[in-house]
Amino acid sequence: MELAQEYVADDLKKAMFLYDSALKQVSTKIEILSEEFVNVHNYNPIEHVKTRIKTSESITHKLEKQGYDTTIENMMHYLHDVAGVRIICSFEKDIYSIADMICNQDDVKVLIIKNYIANPKPNGYKSYHLVVSVPIYLSEGPVETKVEIQIRTVAMDFWASLEHKIKYKFEGNAPDRIQLDLKECADIVDMLDKKMFSLNEEIKAFAGGLPMAPSERDWKD
Ligand code: GTP
Ligand code: MG
Repeated sequence: MELAQEYVADDLKKAMFLYDSALKQVSTKIEILSEEFVNVHNYNPIEHVKTRIKTSESITHKLEKQGYDTTIENMMHYLHDVAGVRIICSFEKDIYSIADMICNQDDVKVLIIKNYIANPKPNGYKSYHLVVSVPIYLSEGPVETKVEIQIRTVAMDFWASLEHKIKYKFEGNAPDRIQLDLKECADIVDMLDKKMFSLNEEIKAFAGGLPMAPSERDWKD
């Protein structure tokens, strides 16, 4: 019995090592793309990147909710979001460029695409979701490991984090008025994203061949 538990602990350690390595690999890909943009195009579409590994409580909860035994095999087979990366960018158009650049890499296998930008959720949620797998080269050979990538604008992210807080606070049963307000905010977010994009296009056209000012992100003044 003790021996069996030791094996389970070893398997879990190995699985979490794979997820951690996959996160590192995807983060490096994003970092390289981001640096290439700055160096070559003098423009960085990526505002920031967050990564997280799902907690064991959350893994257990999700497997149980879906009616599966809490085993390492089930986690690796049925859960797509144990390793997660969130990419926050400036404009909606950037989301598609970044997604394409990631999906076009030879070692990235695209397993699922959910476009909640073209098809927002009824509550107003917008984001572009990808589930990919990347090979992690262990001594025994490569192991395809899944990573969920969420790509959204700063404004969409602002909305999603407030909505998440509200959902948490009301345990998923927020009053109708709050849900209506949230939906209204989602429409405002949409409008803001579109307006900011067209303003930026105008600025670019006005600047002509002149280089753009450094991003506010690289705050130096
Ligand atoms: P989960 O079981 O929640 O992981 O969802 P899923 O497996 O059906 O996948 P989906 O692509 O719909 O959602 C994946 C993740 O996107 C979630 O875990 C959240 O992080 C985020 N997400 C999806 N819908 C919403 C939403 O309505 N509001 C917020 N704030 N986040 C959402
Ligand atoms: Mg999730």
